[in-house]
Amino acid sequence: MFNTDAIMSSYDFDSLKGTLVDVGGGVGMAIRVTHVGGDMFTAIPPADSIFIKSMLHDWSDEKCVQILKNCRESITKRSGKLIIAEVVLNPQGDDVFDETRLNMDMIMLACFDGGKERIEGEWKSILEEAGFRHYNIIKIPSVVSIIEAYAE
Ligand SMILES: C[S@@+](CC[C@H](N)C(=O)[O-])C[C@H]1O[C@@H](n2cnc3c(N)ncnc32)[C@H](O)[C@@H]1O
Repeated sequence: MFNTDAIMSSYDFDSLKGTLVDVGGGVGMAIRVTHVGGDMFTAIPPADSIFIKSMLHDWSDEKCVQILKNCRESITKRSGKLIIAEVVLNPQGDDVFDETRLNMDMIMLACFDGGKERIEGEWKSILEEAGFRHYNIIKIPSVVSIIEAYAE
């Protein structure tokens, strides 16, 4: 809940136009939604923008690229964007969340096959492989950061 509050109060969701799909949205804690069943590895419903929170860290790079390629396919407009709320590791960092982020990386390693937290270079690599050539990292007062990614 703490992460969700920080994301909602730090990021300007009001400026988004059209539809927003929350991929792997769980119980819909982050946004009020129409639930659409399906498998994100197969297809993601068409959207003007896509939101993904605390989900890609469950998966290996290969699986993330599959999910992100489906996100790319689903974003209908050139102006559409992908908004990711996930940890960006900074192993040399000393902000108040850096140790927690490293601990989370250990937990993902132990609990999920291929799951991990990622440094910026790893995010860049999987985003580029999926067709998102531009990205921007926004630090917020939370263990997660916002990564905005664009195909164009
Ligand atoms: C760690 S939870 C994150 C939930 C939510 N985004 C949050 O931050 O609270 C991962 C979510 O991904 C969903 N998920 C797992 N595999 C999926 C798949 N193949 N297609 C769609 N959603 C999937 C799970 O049902 C779960 O809700």
